[in-house]
Amino acid sequence: MYDGMDSPGRNDPCWCGSGKKYKKCHWAEDEHLAELDGKGLEVPPRSLLKSEADIEGIQKSAEVNIGLLDYVGEHIKAGVSTAEIDKWVYDYTVAHDAIPADLNYEGYPKSVCTSINNVICHGIPNDKTILKDGDIINVDASTIKDGYFSDSSRMLCIGNVPENAKRLVDVCHQAIQVGLDQVKPWGRLGDVGAAINKFAKKNGYSVVAEYGGHGIGKEFHEDPFVSFVSRKNTGMVLAPGLVFTIEPMINEGKPDIDDSDPDGWGVRTVDGKLSAQWEVQLEVTDNGYKLLSW
Ligand code: MF3
Ligand code: CO
Repeated sequence: MYDGMDSPGRNDPCWCGSGKKYKKCHWAEDEHLAELDGKGLEVPPRSLLKSEADIEGIQKSAEVNIGLLDYVGEHIKAGVSTAEIDKWVYDYTVAHDAIPADLNYEGYPKSVCTSINNVICHGIPNDKTILKDGDIINVDASTIKDGYFSDSSRMLCIGNVPENAKRLVDVCHQAIQVGLDQVKPWGRLGDVGAAINKFAKKNGYSVVAEYGGHGIGKEFHEDPFVSFVSRKNTGMVLAPGLVFTIEPMINEGKPDIDDSDPDGWGVRTVDGKLSAQWEVQLEVTDNGYKLLSW
C-alpha cells in the first residue's frame, strides 16, 4: 500500500493485531490514508500507528512516569540539589520495575533533565546545583516499562517566584492546552505548533525553533518531529493511533539558544532570560485525543 507495507485481505486479521477482520478494523482508515497520500499530503506510515496493546503498554509506562513527577513535585524545595532529584527519579523508576530512558541515552549521564531558570533544556543534575527560593525548574523525565516509552515534563516553582517567572510558567502551561485543542483526527500537525506559537507571541514571548516534540512508542524518539514554529495546514496528517508529545520551550526574551555548554548537553537562552517548558504525551483518537502522560 501507500507506505510500502502489505495489507491483509478484507476478511483476514487486521495488521494491528486486534484479532478483528481487516474490513472491520483498519481497512477504512487505511483507504483514507492512501487517498490523502495520493493527494500528496504527508501521511504517517502505518508503522507509526499504535495498536490497543501498544496504548496499554504506553499507559503502564506512563503510570510510572506520572507517578515519579508527582513524587518530585511533592518533595522538591529550596536547598535540594538537582543530584537528589536525579536519585529520586532513578529510585522511583527502578522500584516500579521500569528504566529511566534518559540514562545513557546518547551518552546522557543521568536519569532526568533538570533545567533551571535560563536553562532551556537538558540540564544535567549535579550536586553543586542547589535549588533556591524563586527558582523555576523544568523536570523532564522519560520512562521505559516493558519496552514502552513515556515522556513528560513539568515546571515547578521553588518558594516565592517573581511575578514574571510565574507568568511564563503559567502561559507555557496554557500553551499545552492551546496545542491540544488543535489535535483533531485527520487534522494537520502544523496547526498544533502554529497555535502554540501564536499564543506565546501574543503573550510577549518567543518559541525555541531548534527543539520540538516527537512520536514515541517502542522508541524514544519516532516520527513525526513536532515543531512549535510550524504553519497552519501543513505537516503530517493526524491519523488516529498516532502518538506524540507536545513540549514547547517558551522564552521570556529572544528565542536564540546557546548550546555551547562544555558538558555537551545544557542549552541556555542567549540573552540570559528565563525559559519554560511543559511536556505531555497523547494519542490521536477517532474523536480528538487521549492524554497518555503529563
Ligand atoms: N526527555 C527529552 C524529550 O522530551 C529528551 C531528553 S534526552 C536526554 O524528548 F538525553 F537529554 F535525557
Ligand atoms: Co519528549
